[in-house]
Amino acid sequence: LTRSYHPKVIDHYTHPRNVGTLDKTQSNVGTGLVGAPACGDVMRLQIRVNDATGVIEDVKFKTFGCGSAIASSSYMTELVQGMTIQDAAKVKNTEIARELSLPPVKLHCSMLAEDAIKAAIKDYKSKQNRPDTSALLK
Ligand code: FES
Repeated sequence: LTRSYHPKVIDHYTHPRNVGTLDKTQSNVGTGLVGAPACGDVMRLQIRVNDATGVIEDVKFKTFGCGSAIASSSYMTELVQGMTIQDAAKVKNTEIARELSLPPVKLHCSMLAEDAIKAAIKDYKSKQNRPDTSALLK
């Protein structure tokens, strides 16, 4: 029932930006995989970070969920591209919900995008602190 969706949601849903996958074995790639308990929808958001500057240079997502969740993740990838991870960690779901004019019942869909970017940043940071075990894998 697309009638209840805002045109911006439909735009992102029908032409999602930055769909895809980054190589999570790379040390500068952070992966956030989150789910919404309310509906079971799942979102994966990945960032590639410039280790020297902390700037997010590439973002990809895959979302198995409703139109609002897909639109929220698509918009999130556009928003955080070129941001530092410090700034990206401050992006609020309310900002996404406002941009996409999400109704209250769809707020948790945008929350998924906030959770996903936070999880991706956390994963990236934890990789930075991990001792280099690449030699062991050869
Ligand atoms: Fe659950 Fe949209 S209905 S993510």
